[in-house]
Amino acid sequence: MSEPADRRYGPATVPTARGPLSAAVVEALRRPPRDLPADLGVDLDPADPITDEDLQLTLFLCYELHYRGWLGVDESWEWQPTLLALRARCERVFEAALRRLVGAPSVPAAGVAAGLAELVAADDGPSLAATLQRRADLSQFREFVAHRSVYHLREADPHSWALPRLGGPAKAALVEIQTDEYGNGRLDRMHAELFRSTLDGLGLDTGYGAHIDVAPAVTLATNNLMSLFGLHRRLRGALLGHLAAFEMTSSLPNRRYGNGLRRLGFDEVATRFYDEHVEADAVHEQIAAHDLCGGLVRVEPALASDVLFGAAAGLAVDRLFAAHLLDSWAAGRSSLRTPAPPALPPTVLPTVPLASTAAVPLVTG
Ligand SMILES: [Fe+2]
Ligand SMILES: [Fe+2]
Repeated sequence: MSEPADRRYGPATVPTARGPLSAAVVEALRRPPRDLPADLGVDLDPADPITDEDLQLTLFLCYELHYRGWLGVDESWEWQPTLLALRARCERVFEAALRRLVGAPSVPAAGVAAGLAELVAADDGPSLAATLQRRADLSQFREFVAHRSVYHLREADPHSWALPRLGGPAKAALVEIQTDEYGNGRLDRMHAELFRSTLDGLGLDTGYGAHIDVAPAVTLATNNLMSLFGLHRRLRGALLGHLAAFEMTSSLPNRRYGNGLRRLGFDEVATRFYDEHVEADAVHEQIAAHDLCGGLVRVEPALASDVLFGAAAGLAVDRLFAAHLLDSWAAGRSSLRTPAPPALPPTVLPTVPLASTAAVPLVTG
């Protein structure tokens, strides 16, 4: 198995399994593509799919095959039919849980942009951003950055899947937003690269996917949600709604994150990712609500409720994420996982190296 030329850009190392289902997938991915056992996941019925470690890691393992792939894993696994069938079963459980969580938001007479504004105004989640601005210590800030690295190191990628599925005004609006996210084609201005500087400034491993093993299910769920919406054309409305909610709740929290880092003594290189989003997302929020989602619904009116579902789901899962961090810190615990070796039968024991039990992976070289 050869090392990648540059681990900053992936693929990531296959993570450690978190239960029987993810263990079976990890074990399978280490071999050439072949059919999975037919009874895999036969009892797929977790009490809370959104925070179920085994289910969320299984989804993440499957989805990553469509992003950078996994180190040492045959790329043909991406379209292996029995793995896709297993993913579909996991997705049905996950999507049903999301729909139970947020219900079916109704579209106000004033239109989808007004509906998005209502959802954002009613978003009364715990203020993680205020805590990070005023009170979080360095280790807590580093935890937050490690959680978010799972997304920010591939920032904007899930929403790009909408591009070939759109035409007209919504496509133009999405291109306008994504162009900024990708730094207008300049590597040093890509938001993922700005975030890498933040990780580096905080002394954290900047490798793509370096923090997956310590990211709990709820963090993976914030990512899996985007992948679910992004990989299914039928959910394109939800994908755009998710992006709109993301942009509409970004500007003020990012100002707070930057201020929190300044309070802890960090310079403008470390804070630049957050500072950049204060201005950029104040603009993106208008484009996303009116041109992107409004533009989509003008062409495809039947997608209005899906747009609001995607926005509501994104906001709700992010509230769970924020509550997890704040509750962990209030109880004096780390919000990250400290993976233990899985108790699995020898035939399915993963042979990939177990992750360090250190709270946050530090720079490895
Ligand atoms: Fe961004
Ligand atoms: Fe943005």
